[in-house]
Amino acid sequence: MKKFFALLIAALLFATTPAQAAEHIDNADNAADLAGASAEKFYATLPKAKGEYKSRQRPILIEGAMNTETEVLVRALKNPVVYRELNYLFVAGTYKNYPVVIARTEQGLTNSAASTTLAIKKFNPVAVINQGTAGGVIPSLPIGSVVIGEKSIPASALKSEYSAAGAGVDFTKQEMRGTYAYDETTKNFQPYKEYFADKTLLNVAKKVAAAHKEFNVTTGTIGSADWWMCWVDYTNLLHERHGMTSEEMETASVAQICQNAGVPFIGIRVISDNITITDEYNPYSAKIAQDFVLLVVEDYIRDVLKK
Ligand code: 5AD
Repeated sequence: MKKFFALLIAALLFATTPAQAAEHIDNADNAADLAGASAEKFYATLPKAKGEYKSRQRPILIEGAMNTETEVLVRALKNPVVYRELNYLFVAGTYKNYPVVIARTEQGLTNSAASTTLAIKKFNPVAVINQGTAGGVIPSLPIGSVVIGEKSIPASALKSEYSAAGAGVDFTKQEMRGTYAYDETTKNFQPYKEYFADKTLLNVAKKVAAAHKEFNVTTGTIGSADWWMCWVDYTNLLHERHGMTSEEMETASVAQICQNAGVPFIGIRVISDNITITDEYNPYSAKIAQDFVLLVVEDYIRDVLKK
């Protein structure tokens, strides 16, 4: 009888546990869609904005590419109101009595740049935090650990050496070109091979990391490109040449737009997959980055904006 109940409980647990890390990396999009379905339904219930955004204080803009990467943040807002610009979703409300806007940027360099540009024009944010999931490219970054992006690099902005048709490709024969962003001193657009996080945001994030040992946090370089790079020789190259410790698809592009607009920026990521450890992608890890970022936002409001 005891055995029967033990089996029954095991079966029930199995049936109700989410498919957590069981998704294969090829199914990362499906896994994220599945995990984000509840957010989609929730967002549909939120009131739509009437008229233009108005706020006495400039809001903090927090971004995530997908439902899974925004749900915790949106649920944390008081009085959430939905705005849509060119089909990009923004939810404005308050957090700790301070205006905050959450942007679902959608995936990739172009979408995140577009969403950020629209948000800067529409909401005039005082700071931008881009956060979400990323792939670790070194073995010391387990799934669930957090990377504070001290800097980000546009990983695919490269120029290759010439090689003739049929000669094959040696991917080490390349140089970083950078992406073009506005330079305040020269007053024109210059190529940037790396974008540094705003110092104040970085300090606040580091302090939160030191005070909250429940998070496994490192600072590092985030590489962004419209790719999911599974060639370990290639991610090793980016690690060796540029110090990249994780890769994803938005940070450097948002950093570029924030530099153009002169808005303080930081990228913070949770490791959802790591090609040097496993071939799994864990969409549920996205909650960890959002929990951590909410602590950063709380301290930033208290120690920087309200001082
Ligand atoms: N490579 C590229 N993007 C990744 N993401 C998570 N892990 C990786 C990875 N290994 C993020 C991207 C994008 C979505 C696919 O998840 O930023 O938004």
